[in-house]
Parts: sequence; structure tokens; C-alpha cells
Amino acid sequence: MSVQSASIGQSVKLADLALDPYPTYKKLRAHEPVAFVPAANRYLVTRYNDIVTLERDPETFSADESGSLMKRVMGHNLLRKDGAAHKRERTAIEPSLRPGVIRQHWVPVFQSIVDQLIDDFIADGETDLFGSFAGPCAALSLRAMLGLDTATHQDLQTWSQAMMDGTGNYADDPAIWARSDAAAAGVDAAIDEMIPYHRKNPNPSLISSMLHAEDPLTREEIGANVKVIIGGGLNEPRDAILTAVVGLLANPDQKQQVVADNKLWRPVFEETVRWVAPIGMYPRQTTRAVELGGVMLPEGAKLGVVLGSGNRDESVFDNPDRFDINRAKKPHIAFGGGPHFCAGAWVARAQVGEIALPTLFHRIPDLAFAEKPVTWAGWVFRGPTSVPVKWNA
Ligand code: HEM
Repeated sequence: MSVQSASIGQSVKLADLALDPYPTYKKLRAHEPVAFVPAANRYLVTRYNDIVTLERDPETFSADESGSLMKRVMGHNLLRKDGAAHKRERTAIEPSLRPGVIRQHWVPVFQSIVDQLIDDFIADGETDLFGSFAGPCAALSLRAMLGLDTATHQDLQTWSQAMMDGTGNYADDPAIWARSDAAAAGVDAAIDEMIPYHRKNPNPSLISSMLHAEDPLTREEIGANVKVIIGGGLNEPRDAILTAVVGLLANPDQKQQVVADNKLWRPVFEETVRWVAPIGMYPRQTTRAVELGGVMLPEGAKLGVVLGSGNRDESVFDNPDRFDINRAKKPHIAFGGGPHFCAGAWVARAQVGEIALPTLFHRIPDLAFAEKPVTWAGWVFRGPTSVPVKWNA
């Protein structure tokens, strides 16, 4: 590694990553694939193969990060636990997210949510899909899956954003803590309202699964896990829906192809989350000194696992910056890997790839970009923040 290239990590600015992280990732992959980035106070791991290697060794690369702000905001949930403690909580939520349950129970729920949302704006001839479609679709679907029937979709979206802002509040801003604490209290109140119902009436929802598991979760564990699922199961499907719309409208030949052949919605979904990984980065911490990507990491080193970069690694994906539903099939890493591999992967595929996108493009075949610009933001979480579209109503 040259002296010049070793300084790339030092000069990375978080504001640049939030605007467009991909040029920086490309430089890091080429010259400094495991780079200490002072602005993020962690080593960023940007190559696909190093990420896969790390995920195969959860004993060395722990998810239980010390000083985790996520634990402060949400409580100690399954995403920050290792080994048997993690497995116990993961086992408790799994019955709600099995392919059979998704097909029988959640798919009809998702379909009716999507139909209703489109009914509400189809006569308008224009909309911003962020606020009218993708956000409420993800929030209403998640509300149903959690079993938080008394919350509104606006509640869920506000709680999700406030808690995610809290988990990133390294500046210790008291206003952000106040909002994230209020959000956590709102989630707790909504859970307490619903627990008596779910206790009496076992059903496919996540809260019911946690209560009725063979080894039931405590109220505290339920609270922490519902919060992490609101933080992690809402923005990602929303961002995947919007990213797919942008990818297809910007590539009309690919849009034509998928509208003519329903089987292609699955490749659309997979290519979407490869192209722009909704969770762009997540943390790990070393439990011992270890070498990764040619760099000797000390025990206790904090890492940022940059899925958004691994998914654009040119040694794995040809022409990686291009959205291409016809690319050669190679496994992307948008759902992570190892024991924390996304528990909602099949639900997300159904919600986004089988229901939301096909229904939107079939009901509005002439969907097109409006004259206003599409905007994007983020690197830890990344997606469009505005997708203005129009059609002939
Ligand atoms: C396109 C949509 C989604 C993407 C890209 C995504 C991505 C991810 C990733 C990368 C992780 C691993 C994080 C880490 O290891 O630190 C994860 C974990 C998780 N996801 Fe998702 N997710 C999506 C949708 C969902 C949905 C809809 C749900 C719930 C209904 C969900 C529930 C979870 C849970 C519970 C975990 C923690 C698993 C564990 O610790 O064992 N996800 N997700």
C-alpha cells in the first residue's frame, strides 16, 4: 500500500459519503480496502471478499459493539447479540417470517395495502412516490407484521426516523435524544396496548410469535426487538421500492422487458438492492487481533461493513455502477451474511418484488419521471428521498 493511498481513509468526509458514496468506495476498494476513517471513527471494509470472510467468522467479528448507540436508543436487541443469546431471540421471531406464512398470510395483506394506496392517488396524474406510496406501503405492511394495530403509518415512520437518528447521534445532540426517547416511549405504549390481545389470540404477527415462542421473550426483549424491526424493516423496503422505480424509469428497455414478463420481477428486486444497498453499512467489533484485507486490526477495533461498496465491487460484478436486470447471476450481499442475515429477506422480496412493484407498473403502465428531480441521500442507509412521477390520469 503506497503512502499516498494510505491517506484516503483519513480524508473521507461523511457529508461527501451522504451525497454520493460510490466514487469514494471505488478509491477505497482499489487502494485501501480496510481503511481507518477518523470521520466515522472506524475501519471501513469495502471489498466484497473481505466482507464475506468477516461474516463467516462471527466469533472474531462480533455484532455486540461496545458503546453502541443502538442499544442506548432501543435496548439490547437481537442485532447486537452473538451466539446462543442471539439464536434464542431469532428463533422466537422466525415463525412470522417463514415462506409459507408469508404466502398464506402476508401476501394478501400486502396486496390490499398496495391496491388501496394506488386507488388514493391514481386519479391525480402525478405524485411523489416517496410520500404517497413507498413510505406508507412499507409502514402499513410492517404495522401488520408486527401486530401494532393501534399505531398509524405516520407514527411508524416518525418513530423509525427518530430512532435511526438516535442510533447515529455521535454528536450527542440533546434534541435528537429527546426525539428518539419520545419515539421509544411511543413504541412501548403501542406494544403495551396490544400485548393483552396477542396473548389471548395467537396469530402470525411478530409480537404474537415472541409471546408464544417455546422460550417466550420477556417484555423488555420484546420492546428492544420491536424497536429494531421498526428501525430496520421500514426504510429498507421503502428505499428498495423507490430505487427500483428509478432504475426502471431510467432504463426504458428494461422496464419494457419486465412489464412483458412477470418472471423478471425477482431479478429486478435483486438487482435493485445490489445496485443501491438500502443498508449501506453496519458495524462489527473485533474480539481479538486479526488480519483482514492485508491490515492488522487490534482487538476491539470498530469496523464499518460497507455492503454498499461490496455490492459494487468490480472484481465480482461487471460494470457495477450500471442498473442491469440482465446481469450474470452472482450473489449480492444486501441482506448481510452469517447469523444476522436479514430475517425479513423473504418478506421483503414478497412485499417489494411480488406485490408493490408489479402492481404499480401494471396499474400505471405509462408511469414516467415528472419534471422535478429525483433526489438521493445517505450512506449508512441509502435511498431516494423524492421520486416525482407523472402519467395520464
Ligand atoms: C429490502 C429490504 C431489506 C434489506 C435490504 C434488509 C437488510 C438487512 C441487513 C443487511 C441485515 C443485517 C444487519 C447486520 O448484520 O447488522 C438485516 C437484519 C435484519 N432484518 Fe432486514 N432488511 C430488509 C427488510 C427487512 C424487513 C421487511 C424486516 C422485518 C419484517 C427485516 C428484519 C430484519 C431483522 C429482524 C434483522 C436482524 C436479524 C438478526 O440479527 O438475526 N428486514 N436486514
